[in-house]
Amino acid sequence: MISKAQVIQPFLPATLTPGERAEAFAPSNIALCKYWGKRDKELNLPINASLSVSLAHLGSRTRITPALDGADHVLLNGTELTVDSSFSRKVIAFVDLFRGALAQPLIIDTHNNIPTAAGLASSASGFAALMLALDQFYGLQLAPEQLSAFARMGSGSASRSIFTGFVEWQMGNREDGMDSHAVQLPATWPELRIGLVKVATGEKKVDSRAGMQRTVETAHLYQSWPLQAAADLTRLHDAIVEHNFELLGATAEQNALSMHATMIASWPPLLYWQPESVAAMQQVWALREQGVPVYFTMDAGPNLKLLFTAEHESVLSAAFPGLEVVAPFGQP
Ligand code: PMV
Repeated sequence: MISKAQVIQPFLPATLTPGERAEAFAPSNIALCKYWGKRDKELNLPINASLSVSLAHLGSRTRITPALDGADHVLLNGTELTVDSSFSRKVIAFVDLFRGALAQPLIIDTHNNIPTAAGLASSASGFAALMLALDQFYGLQLAPEQLSAFARMGSGSASRSIFTGFVEWQMGNREDGMDSHAVQLPATWPELRIGLVKVATGEKKVDSRAGMQRTVETAHLYQSWPLQAAADLTRLHDAIVEHNFELLGATAEQNALSMHATMIASWPPLLYWQPESVAAMQQVWALREQGVPVYFTMDAGPNLKLLFTAEHESVLSAAFPGLEVVAPFGQP
């Protein structure tokens, strides 16, 4: 197995010249065709390609400055964390891949503007923003595909957060994973809306890394997942090109439910839903029966993300009080 450091090393200059300060923003993203299952756990290489839409201004902003007291400092939303917290350990391990022999102590300050109430994961935008900030701080001048491939090593879905709009993470087949990076699709859809429905917040018991490993190892149903994902990816490309909202929504919803089916078929079973998640799904289905074109997707957690178009925003905001609405391509 190739290590992350072995892959990154050839892309770094012989001597690093740290800057004074770097700051970068990366958006969060919602997968319409999910990444679920790794073929390489060290490099986060996926079993299937995935496709997402970015959450525009919602994401992470990371600032890097030199630490003058000889120790690393990791801050999250204005609060300094202990260096042995799980967040700090992940951040520092990622930074170590780049600062190497220099071992320069840093202050790494991250702010997430994703409403915590929406219960959205922030690892995708967090690692993407950290990668962009490191690139600036050390003047690495990496190409977008390289930034995406390296962000992927922090968290798979971070590969997609390097870009905005519709983004496809191509699975690649190289052993070093350098062809497993995201690309931005040349498409916009100004009327598209994402609604964040909060069901529950707080740490989940089984994170996506452990969840996907359990599914791959124990769910026979998982065998059908790569086929489902490949077919869905084709459908999503068609839907995006044709601006066919029904096809986009239906494909995303079926894809998410298929992923959850593989989780439920794992052992021990993995069910991220709460009773409120099921109630919200039934509400979406009831609204569709009444002629409102709305679909949902869900990740490794209990919250729903609704897909709809701008003209139905007021109906949906009334049906789901507290709905946080995002326009991924800005207001039309
Ligand atoms: O990037 P990770 O390791 O947090 O995995 C993300 C997994 C899902 O959110 C369930 C799907 C996806 O493609 O974002």
